[in-house]
Amino acid sequence: MAAFAPAFSPDIIEEIHREHESLLRGLTEFERALDSIDCDSETFANLVAVGEVVFLTRRLVFQLLEHFTREEGTILAPLAEASAELNDLVEKLRREHEELSGRMAIFALAVEELDSSDDLYDAIWQMKEQGKGLACAIIEHTAREERKLAECV
Ligand SMILES: [Fe+2]
Ligand SMILES: [Fe+2]
Repeated sequence: MAAFAPAFSPDIIEEIHREHESLLRGLTEFERALDSIDCDSETFANLVAVGEVVFLTRRLVFQLLEHFTREEGTILAPLAEASAELNDLVEKLRREHEELSGRMAIFALAVEELDSSDDLYDAIWQMKEQGKGLACAIIEHTAREERKLAECV
């Protein structure tokens, strides 16, 4: 049983949950594409994998921003009002939205400018490392929200 009663409906929790599942599927595809880049190779397969990362990054930017906006406009305010402890959590989640959005914007710009890089090998290696770190951070953020939302139903 929930220890508190934030003023939002189970429908919105279900909608956010579905968005999390969709986001996690997108991140799994993104991580797979990053993993398939072989930094020691200059094969055509690498070009295909990089092209896939570019495509998946564009999709993730849109999906992530849309999701953060929906969360902030639906569940975060009622959660924050439910208790002082939850207010602290919501502040942390909002800061993470800002940080993750910023990291994603920088990453997406680097991916779009990959072709004009002086050192393509290094740029691809950086993209792989930064992309994986970013995916992990988004997955951790999402898991924390899911745990909290599970207490609300
Ligand atoms: Fe979030
Ligand atoms: Fe979320």
